[in-house]
Amino acid sequence: MCVSVENISGCQLENEQVTVQDGLELLEFAPQQRPLLEEVVEGLTATEKSLPAKLHYDQRGSMLFEQICEVDEYYITRTELALMREISGAIGDALGNGCMLIEPGSGASLKTDLLLAAMPDPAAYVPVDISRDFLLESATAIADRHDIEVLPIWADFTKGHPIPACEAAVRSRAIYFPGSTVGNFSRSDAASLLRTFHAMIQEQPEEELSGGPGAVVVGFDCKKDQDRMEAAYNDSEGVTAEFNYNVIDRLADELGVALNRDKFSFRADWVEDEGAIVSRLWVDESHSVEMAGEAVTFEAGEAIRMEESHKYTPKEFELLAEQSGLGLEKIWTDDAGDFAVACLRPLSV
Ligand code: AVJ
Repeated sequence: MCVSVENISGCQLENEQVTVQDGLELLEFAPQQRPLLEEVVEGLTATEKSLPAKLHYDQRGSMLFEQICEVDEYYITRTELALMREISGAIGDALGNGCMLIEPGSGASLKTDLLLAAMPDPAAYVPVDISRDFLLESATAIADRHDIEVLPIWADFTKGHPIPACEAAVRSRAIYFPGSTVGNFSRSDAASLLRTFHAMIQEQPEEELSGGPGAVVVGFDCKKDQDRMEAAYNDSEGVTAEFNYNVIDRLADELGVALNRDKFSFRADWVEDEGAIVSRLWVDESHSVEMAGEAVTFEAGEAIRMEESHKYTPKEFELLAEQSGLGLEKIWTDDAGDFAVACLRPLSV
């Protein structure tokens, strides 16, 4: 379905552009991305070496992530999906009629299908992603499966962006952020992200508020037995290890940063102070690698930090949301309390 994006509510746009692609009108903000090599070299020359977690998701990485979701130890995806089957009706009721659903990060998952199907008369679906290809893929998939106006936005959702007007009357806005993606952000970055989401639903024009103040629906992984959390990221088939080694291969293939995967061992550990599983590649033997004209040393026993997966108790998540001006309206978990979906609303001031 085609829609107009001429009328952007309450925001000044400088570099936006509208392109028609696959029958969808795409709103493009051409997100500013730093040169990857610069970011990689900065991470690998820091005192504690790290690589940006987003490097995991090229085509092969995304395929490996899908495989991770199938391994026995990785409970997250299947638990969330089963929970969504139970509660999508209740979330739909909480969101009400004429709600515009905004999904930051490439969506179009089964979870999104369940929620859209459960929403009474949704106004529009607005997927937002930094990868133009993933964005168009998910936007087209949703447009094919649901009779709903789809308004894809190509942007970096962590930076905030305006929300386009749609054909249907909007009575409220909701942000859907499933998958424990919030876990990939440090606690302070997660608080800023929730503030950005808060602002996005709050910026709503008066006439679009008849359905209430808007909501943020977030899925997060709960703290649990340490062994189970660690096993989920150290699966016996080694799929998660491969997911991380793939990043090393990409550096060599795409950036000429010739790290050798055989010189690293993968392990993910629970770090109590951070409340997170930290995935790292540990250096087996000291060696150095040339990058951007500089020799960088990797000492035996040091590690490259690859990814953080933060876990929360429901109470901790409630406190995090409150720091961002959002109150916990309702929280659902599976019977074992492994995974939670929270419905947050702006706290009245
Ligand atoms: C997609 C961020 C939720 O942290 O559990 C899975 C990514 N990394 N196994 C997670 C991931 C290794 C995943 N999230």
